[in-house]
Amino acid sequence: MATAKVRDYYKLVRRATAELDTDSTLEHFSTTVIRGIARSMDGAASLLLLDSTGKKLVHSTSWKLPQSYLKKGVLDAKKSIAEIAKQQPMVVPDVRRSRRLQYREETLQAGFASILGVPIMADSRPIGSIRVYLTENKEFTNNEIEFVLTMASLMSLALAKQTWLKETRDLAAIEPMEPKQLPKLKKVRFVHPSEEEFAGILDFYNIEWVYEPRAFPINWDKNGVTQMFTPDFYLPRYDLYVELTTMKQRSVTAKNKKLRLLRQLYPSIRITLLYKKDFERMLARFGYGPMAQAKGHGVAEVLFPAAQIQRRVRALAKNISKDYEGKVPLMVGVLRGVLCFMADLIRNMSIPINVDLMSLTSYSSDKGEVVRITKDIAMNIEGRHVIMVEDIIDTGITLNYLLNHLQSKKPESLKVCTLLDKKARRLLEIPLDYVGFEVPDQFVIGYGLDFKEEYRNLPFIGLLE
Ligand code: IMP
Ligand code: MG
Repeated sequence: MATAKVRDYYKLVRRATAELDTDSTLEHFSTTVIRGIARSMDGAASLLLLDSTGKKLVHSTSWKLPQSYLKKGVLDAKKSIAEIAKQQPMVVPDVRRSRRLQYREETLQAGFASILGVPIMADSRPIGSIRVYLTENKEFTNNEIEFVLTMASLMSLALAKQTWLKETRDLAAIEPMEPKQLPKLKKVRFVHPSEEEFAGILDFYNIEWVYEPRAFPINWDKNGVTQMFTPDFYLPRYDLYVELTTMKQRSVTAKNKKLRLLRQLYPSIRITLLYKKDFERMLARFGYGPMAQAKGHGVAEVLFPAAQIQRRVRALAKNISKDYEGKVPLMVGVLRGVLCFMADLIRNMSIPINVDLMSLTSYSSDKGEVVRITKDIAMNIEGRHVIMVEDIIDTGITLNYLLNHLQSKKPESLKVCTLLDKKARRLLEIPLDYVGFEVPDQFVIGYGLDFKEEYRNLPFIGLLE
C-alpha cells in the first residue's frame, strides 16, 4: 500500500485523538472521523448507531452518501444487528455478488461497488458500525481494516466520554455542597450590580454566601444538555438557593418557568425567587437604593465583607499567638477606631495577654499636624513585650508619635499590628509587623472606622460615598 495513504491514516488517528481531549461536541467529532475516513479511502462513509431501543441501526453521520440512499431510512433490525453482532468486520468486495446485503439494489444505484463495515464496541457489546463505500470492487487490505477498526475504537471512546460527562454533570447538580468547596476567598465578579448589593446585605447580616454556585441542567436532547439554570446565590446556612429578579416582568415569567423545571427535576433543592420590591425594601433598610431616604453620605461600595474581615482577624491572631508563644504580650489599642478590631483580635488570641488602651486627638497648627495624648496607657510597660494595635495607618504621623512615646517607657520589644494599611498616603516610613488588608487611597468607614463619628457600627468595611 502506498506510504502516502498510511500517512493519511496516521494523521487522522492523531487528529481524532487530539480532538477527544478537547470539549468538541460529539457531532463535530463524528464528522471529523467519518469525513476523514471517506477522504483517506477515496470513497463515502457513514456512522450507524443503535437507537435507544437497541433494535435499529440509524444513520448518525455520513459523508458523500447520496440523499436518496440515506432516505431508505433505518436499517432493518435483524439483518444489520446480525451483521454487527458478529463483532467482526464485514467485507463486501463486490456488492453485485452479495446475497446478504440489505438494500443491495439501492447501494448499486447509488454507484457503490464495495463496502467495508466494522462494529463499534462498548463494554464488549456492539453499539454501532462504521461503513466505508467505494465505487470500485475492492478486496480490503488488513491495513485498511485495522485503520477503520481503530477509528471505531476512538468513536466508542467519544460516546463513552459523552455519557460520562452527562453523568458527572447530573451528579454535580444533586450532591450537597461541602463547606470546603465554597469558593469564598476568590474575588467575585458579579454580572449585575444588584447581585453585588445583595451580597453586601448578606454580609451585613453575617450570612455566608456563594455566588453562582453551580449550573443545573434542565433540558436535554439526544446530543446532551441544551439548557442550564444557574441560580445567583447559595446560602449554606439555610441550604437555600436564591435567584434575584430585579428586571422586567417578561424576564420574571421566563425565570419562573425555569424555576418550575428545576423544582420538578431536583425536588430536594430549595430555591427562592426574590422580587424587585422585596429587594428594594432590604436595600432601604441597609441605607441605600431607591427606597432609602437619601440624607448625606452612605456606603458607596463594600470593600471587605464582614465574613472576610473575621477570617483575616483570626489569621492575624493565630500568627501573633505563634510569634509570642511562651510570653504574655501587652496589646495596646488606640481609641476609638480600633474598637471592633481590638475586640475581635484579642478574642482570637490563643496565648495569655494583657490589654491597655489609649486615646489621642490631632489638630492642625502652624507647625503642621500635631498629635496630643488625651488618655495614656495605665500599665507599666518597662521590660514588657508591647504590640500597638491600630485600625488604619494613613500618613503614619500618629503611629510615629505613638511609637516614640511608648519607646521612651523602655519596653522589651515594640511591634505594630494594623487592620488596614493605606500605603499610598504614607509620609513617614514605619515598618508594620502585622497587616490585615491594604486599602486604596480613599476614605473608608465601618468596623470601628468613622466619618464624623458615624458608621462605626457597620460590620463590614466600605468606601464612603
Ligand atoms: P495617620 O496619622 O495619617 O496615619 O492617620 C491615622 C488615623 O487617621 C487613623 O487612626 C484613623 O483614625 C484616621 N483615618 C485615616 N484614614 C481613615 C479612613 O479612611 N477612614 C477613617 N479614618 C481614617
Ligand atoms: Mg485611629
